[in-house]
Amino acid sequence: MKENEPEWIEVGAATELSRSSLAPVSVGEARVALSCVGGEFGAISNICNHVGGPLGQGRLDGDYVVCPWHQWKFHRQTGAGEPGFEADRVPSHAVKVVDGRLYVSARPVTRRGRLAHPPLPLAREPQRAPGPVRVAGISTTAMDPNNPRYSTSDALLTSALEGARASHGAEVKLVKLNDLGFKHCGGYYSRAARACTWPCSITQMDTKDELVEVYELIVHWADVLLIATPIRWGAASALYYKMVERMNCIQNQITLHNNVLIRDKVAAFIITGGQDNVQAVAGQMCGFFGELGFVLPPFPFIGHSLGWTAEDMERNVEFVRMHEGLHAGARELAARAINVSERLIAKSMSTGHIERGGRKANIPSRAPHSS
Ligand code: FES
Repeated sequence: MKENEPEWIEVGAATELSRSSLAPVSVGEARVALSCVGGEFGAISNICNHVGGPLGQGRLDGDYVVCPWHQWKFHRQTGAGEPGFEADRVPSHAVKVVDGRLYVSARPVTRRGRLAHPPLPLAREPQRAPGPVRVAGISTTAMDPNNPRYSTSDALLTSALEGARASHGAEVKLVKLNDLGFKHCGGYYSRAARACTWPCSITQMDTKDELVEVYELIVHWADVLLIATPIRWGAASALYYKMVERMNCIQNQITLHNNVLIRDKVAAFIITGGQDNVQAVAGQMCGFFGELGFVLPPFPFIGHSLGWTAEDMERNVEFVRMHEGLHAGARELAARAINVSERLIAKSMSTGHIERGGRKANIPSRAPHSS
């Protein structure tokens, strides 16, 4: 072998390998993303710079390999990042065809390089700032902003927040999901567990993602979360589900890293509808937010429904508007949640991690008890 000549490893017949435009291939101990365009081969590391996605399982966009996890791009032959991000590069290997056989250098001929990606503010360690109890209200009803209507769930949420501020000196914030621009969950966890990241991969990639506001509230700002939803066909609203799917990344931090982001926080719910399914909707909400780490107060939800037989919706808005008992119930719900929150602030229950036995994605590693 000549000096500076790489050590070559024979990978296979060039004709056969050229049938696939992009595939992961083993080269000795290395895994490369092997590509072929117009008969020209390229080989770069199979491991993406972002969080290790398998580049060879991605797709080609011209001469760029697109990572299947979050779509970062690397030149298929040089490994350089896409234009503007060239320095964010993966190692590339030399390739040659001799007598119809493809050879790839055992070692990369260029190095990995990483551009500094400053962490998003969301990624900071959750730590409660001193001050009064902070109550965040999240409205999940859909609304045409040009033709606003009276929303029963919003009305009760507003009463709850006003009660929290006026009677308990709480700081309050209201967020209406309807006003935020945010994408649906991309289902990254379904591709590979590690592809689901905190902060959410969508937030990392989309500078216009306005769900940041909700993440900030629930992970960092709020002590108490009040979520209001209408019932739609026996379930919480579509916007509610769009939001909770995007919260997979919070729950998956526990699954993947035993990192509990929700610490010493309380959640309670307001559910209104024209048909009765309040308890089932409440069950889902209590279950989901409990799984994130929220603590529930006694009687963690209030509901209102006109029921199956007397679904006289013409009276519904007026009923909620005039029914002082419902608004008092909303204020008391906030009061119960604040009461629990004050105890948690005074005496933390959170450890930042949990014992994994019996939890999701836990493979028991300890020997069983001997009796
Ligand atoms: S883009 Fe490759 S792992 Fe995220």
